[in-house]
Amino acid sequence: MAFVAVNVEGRVATVTLDRPEALNAFNSQVLQELLQEFVALGHREDVGAIVLTGSGRKAFAAGADIAEMRDKSPDEARSFAELGQMVTTTIERIPQPVIAAVNGYALGGGCEMALACDIRLCSDNARFGQLEVNLGIIPGWGGSQRLARLCGPAFARDLIYTGRVADPQEALRWGLVNAVHSQDELMAKAYEMAETIAGKSGVIVQYAKACINRAFDQDLAGGLRLEAGFFGLCFATEDQKEGMSAFLEKRPAQFKHR
Ligand code: CAA
Repeated sequence: MAFVAVNVEGRVATVTLDRPEALNAFNSQVLQELLQEFVALGHREDVGAIVLTGSGRKAFAAGADIAEMRDKSPDEARSFAELGQMVTTTIERIPQPVIAAVNGYALGGGCEMALACDIRLCSDNARFGQLEVNLGIIPGWGGSQRLARLCGPAFARDLIYTGRVADPQEALRWGLVNAVHSQDELMAKAYEMAETIAGKSGVIVQYAKACINRAFDQDLAGGLRLEAGFFGLCFATEDQKEGMSAFLEKRPAQFKHR
């Protein structure tokens, strides 16, 4: 891959956006590579958690590639939005949790890519924004939907209508990020969390992700039915027997991810 690097160590995979000369901006090739890599990782039972980050110390990603977008026709622009949405939806739906380690600018499509992840950790030099309005467009990869769902419509409207940039403390206040770390500590903290998650039963964490993913697209009664169904499924796994036996026998659980 030219612009996306994947590395797997133990049960944790790292996906690195690697186009530093354009602050990791997403052109069509970056999007295609990301899609391919996330689909492949989603099928890997030996991967329990994924960290998504940007190369360098300046940017997670500065958004969609403006040079590529400028001369698109309306139909081409719609297809470009659909391609980006395919990537964000894939990140959201693959079985394993994805942690965004936001190591600098997360603007436009960069912010939208982070929004599709399960958890966002950022460095103290991170900056968030949906700057599209400054370019004469609106967000196209889910910003108007996921930012409003995650942080509420007030903050989403503020960022999307003004095209301003938010700092890490503001992002933390609105729940856009789970935690802020120093630049030097960010990746260690991201791996610590990823390894904690990957050390649990993979199949059980996947059930949890599947349930949480459905929390906002149905009513409470439907969500509770879904949760009860998955709760029942847990008891068909070896890991449920092992987890409970280990507790009762006062020893650490040895999960087999099945
Ligand atoms: N697309 C294409 N190239 C980009 C880019 C982008 N989104 N962001 C940065 N770059 C390029 C710059 O053109 C520059 O390239 P050259 O060296 O060849 O000139 C290089 O990356 C470095 O950028 P700057 O010189 O601008 O760096 P800076 O430190 O002065 O500023 C910045 C950093 C504030 C992030 C600035 O680059 C910037 O504002 N970038 C654009 C951010 C933006 O508007 N993103 C939204 C895009 S629209 C979108 O994402 C739509 C959607 O919803 C899908």
